[in-house]
Amino acid sequence: MADMSVAYSSSHGLGEEQSIWFKLTPLLNQENPMQVLMALSEKYSGVIPINLKTQRIILLSEPAHAERVLVTNADNYTKYFDGLRPVFGRSMITIDGALWQKIRRPQQAAFHPNMFEDYFPYLMSAIKTKMARWAEYAESGETVEMVEETWTLAAEMVCKALFDREMPFNPHFVFKQVKTYTDVMNHKSVRLKNVRGELSEITEEETAKAMEIWGSIPETVIGADIVDHREKTLLNMILEAEADPDFPEFDRQQVIDELKQYLWAGTETTALTLAWSLYLLSQNPEVMERIRAEAHEVCGDDDPR
Ligand code: HEM
Repeated sequence: MADMSVAYSSSHGLGEEQSIWFKLTPLLNQENPMQVLMALSEKYSGVIPINLKTQRIILLSEPAHAERVLVTNADNYTKYFDGLRPVFGRSMITIDGALWQKIRRPQQAAFHPNMFEDYFPYLMSAIKTKMARWAEYAESGETVEMVEETWTLAAEMVCKALFDREMPFNPHFVFKQVKTYTDVMNHKSVRLKNVRGELSEITEEETAKAMEIWGSIPETVIGADIVDHREKTLLNMILEAEADPDFPEFDRQQVIDELKQYLWAGTETTALTLAWSLYLLSQNPEVMERIRAEAHEVCGDDDPR
């Protein structure tokens, strides 16, 4: 019941005029938003100022900028993730300061470079399964939605490599639900319909239902079939933090929110990057050939390690 009320109230946030996500939607209305952003970046030497009536948004595009904001001058900056709380809860990605550091510490070891040796077999097996599926599609000529394909791949990788769990949900269905929130174009159309007094295609009940389904996924993952009974997994680190009596902040809700975060931040990002990379490679076969040759030179017939 508590969850539902959170979902209901947060669905009001969809399309709110003061949301930065909403304000940035004109940039996405372009035929080729990436090209527009790159041209702006060139024009403004990598620091793109966007002046609004009462606010100034600055987009940064150079690695040195990221280093300044995230490393050398990190104390001068705070996070802005307000509109995405329904998706991420109060996980690391939406919190800041001392609490963020405290919540982060017990999970950090899962991202040490040494851990990737453990992860590789699961990443590789997910890739091989997916490639076999794609070979079948190529044979049959069937049309597929590539972002959904890369998304299921990423979700399988997160579940198996980081949580040691079989993926217990249908990612096509689950991610479609959450898209209501993360697709800012939805926010814009909801807002415009509200302004015109029209009924929105996305009702509050639908958003609440989507958020309820999303909220139930972490427990489903925890209870799913265990793949290999590994001891040192991200999921175990999170559950150990919950069991630590000296760490009251890391309660069950924190566990759920951290899992939501990984299931979204670790999948949407990689799925979109991969789908775009594959598309661009298909348009630039000479680059694809160079990558193929380099991979062959480095790994031969072995898997990457
Ligand atoms: C192309 C892939 C990815 C991109 C572009 C990306 C981008 C980002 C960015 C920009 C942030 C910083 C947000 C902020 O604090 O302002 C972030 C944070 C985060 N990402 Fe990613 N990410 C990617 C892949 C992943 C993957 C694979 C995972 C997990 C399996 C992941 C988990 C996280 C987490 C947990 C945070 C919050 C970290 C913290 O606050 O301490 N991301 N990501």
